[in-house]
Amino acid sequence: MPFSPIHHTFGPHVSGAYLIQSLKQLCLFWNWKSGKERDWLRETLAQWFDAECYLFSTGREALLALLRSLPIEQGSEILIQGFTCVALPNAIHAAGFTPIFSEINPETLNIDLEALGGKITPRTKVIIVQHTFGIVADMKALRGIADKHRILLIEDCAHVLPDATGPKRIGQYGDFLMLSFGRDKAASGISGGAIITKNTEVAAILQLEEQRAAELSWCSIKRLLLYPLIYASTKPIYGLGLGKGILLIAAKCKALAPVITKKEKAGYQSPLLHRMPSALCALVRWEFKRFQLINDHRRMLSKKYSTAAAEHHWNIPSGIEEHLPLQKFPIFVSDADLVRSKLKRVNIYLDDGWTGASVCPRNVDQEASGYIPGSCPKAERLAHQILVLPTHPTMTEKQADRLIKILSATMPRNGDS
Ligand SMILES: Cc1ncc(COP(=O)(O)O)c(C=O)c1O
Repeated sequence: MPFSPIHHTFGPHVSGAYLIQSLKQLCLFWNWKSGKERDWLRETLAQWFDAECYLFSTGREALLALLRSLPIEQGSEILIQGFTCVALPNAIHAAGFTPIFSEINPETLNIDLEALGGKITPRTKVIIVQHTFGIVADMKALRGIADKHRILLIEDCAHVLPDATGPKRIGQYGDFLMLSFGRDKAASGISGGAIITKNTEVAAILQLEEQRAAELSWCSIKRLLLYPLIYASTKPIYGLGLGKGILLIAAKCKALAPVITKKEKAGYQSPLLHRMPSALCALVRWEFKRFQLINDHRRMLSKKYSTAAAEHHWNIPSGIEEHLPLQKFPIFVSDADLVRSKLKRVNIYLDDGWTGASVCPRNVDQEASGYIPGSCPKAERLAHQILVLPTHPTMTEKQADRLIKILSATMPRNGDS
């Protein structure tokens, strides 16, 4: 059994070269906060989407800043899908609005268009569309629904960024785009988020929000920049048990910043906004230089999993298109927890947080997030059946072959009991 694990969350972008870049940024401490890298990222995204761009220290803060800037009254309803990240309802609550969860289509893992129609009321002012794991939502149809009801459309692109050969439906139909540069996202700056828009009135307010936002503290930036070093040194020895111990100590000593805090799991997001540190923008810049390669790698692994799914009769969503640079490759099994626990014994960790609950991760207080248990039964059922396979930049082809081999021996065939 190799000591280096197959995983989703142990520094998925952290290759040797990424580590060197992060150490370089760690040394250039005078450039950590503001600097030319932040201006570069803002201008690059503005040019890319031919729109205005505003940067914040996370995607959830970017979303909060956007929601606060919208011309809608407090208490308005915002539609989001069941099977989502707690970051969405938390940002909606923090902005003073009400999240309404709508059922998903299990074949796309995205919002179900028919169910959506039934959730729209005169109080509905916004729909947030999430391209789950990079499976692109039906944006043309959603634009039609939004226009018919005079509702704003936010595209949550946390799971996918378009590239030269990518799906053209991303970023074309939304009034606003939200991007995340979190540690397991399409391009990683360890943390960071952006709002992109052509709406000049909202853009003017967003600009003020970004100007008023605080810089992250030196300590917080140092913690984020240490993340690649901690994972690069523990990953190769994780299978020996040592790596796990070091990670636990690092988390206890607060050397590692949690992806989602205890307060966030309890349904609370701080109203404070922070600017995206220039050092993290520099990491995104480095990732953008090889972005086509990153997405092509995701495509190659997704194709491998697709072929294996056909061969072994695995149940996969029919909405997966071959050209998509999937952030993760989903398959359905009757008891996903059982498969995951068997795989752990052979140093394979497939719990990415997107399992076990409609509002993820599973230890989120579902009711505090605004989710009414039973309101999205398909999302709840799917959350127990989903098993996602890694496509991230440090997942090798050899690891994917090993994963497929072990999975085909572990999982019941589709239709078997
Ligand atoms: C669909 C989705 N939207 C938004 C976010 C928030 O992004 P961030 O982690 O940068 O705050 C996440 C986080 O994982 C997410 O999965």
